[in-house]
Amino acid sequence: MVKLTYIGHSAFVVSDGNNIIAIDPFITGNPTATIKAADINPNFIVLTHAHGDHLGDTVELAKSNDATVIAVNELAIYLGTKGLKYHPLHIGGEFQFPFGSVKLTIAHHSSVNEEGVYMGPPAGAIINIGGKKIYHTGDTGLFSDMQLIGEISQPDVMLVPIGDNFTMGIEDAVKSVQFVKPKLAIPMHYNTFPVILADPNEFVTKVKANNFNSRVMEFGETIEI
Ligand code: NI
Ligand code: MN
Repeated sequence: MVKLTYIGHSAFVVSDGNNIIAIDPFITGNPTATIKAADINPNFIVLTHAHGDHLGDTVELAKSNDATVIAVNELAIYLGTKGLKYHPLHIGGEFQFPFGSVKLTIAHHSSVNEEGVYMGPPAGAIINIGGKKIYHTGDTGLFSDMQLIGEISQPDVMLVPIGDNFTMGIEDAVKSVQFVKPKLAIPMHYNTFPVILADPNEFVTKVKANNFNSRVMEFGETIEI
């Protein structure tokens, strides 16, 4: 049984009962988060890129839980200099971990750390855990290779940014679901800040109108996938 919790923004926690994986754990300072960083105890942290609204609590969480950070090579090595355990991956590469696997995909965005230093390319991540595949697109604009990602990985769940401005907006996000064809599409990266206000129910309605399954996850909600 795989459980998925939405913290808010692009931050999720996924667990198979033995392993707890935090994805882009921006929790402290996230105005929509109802869960505290101290409330999650991940043994792995998957990062899509280095922007502060994705890196978030990674350093503190990894240190306090002895967690391994999985990220693009440059970002992973940078976090290694902060004393964290890490596993470097790169776009297109997949690796087997105790819980399953992680494969990185392209994402059209950027990735620098808080000092503005290049942290490798941004990524999306396909996490295979407990027989379920979750495609977290990271921050990205729409791209037609999502069709290939969908065809090859056939994700059960797609986590889709809808907030516009820095990522896809609702129209492009709906198109991305048509490209990937997941069993379930869940909106993310909206309503955290004024520039990314979006109605997740509008996204869900439009995805369903295209005959794909979608639902809004409340901030702090856990579902079984
Ligand atoms: Ni970003
Ligand atoms: Mn972002």
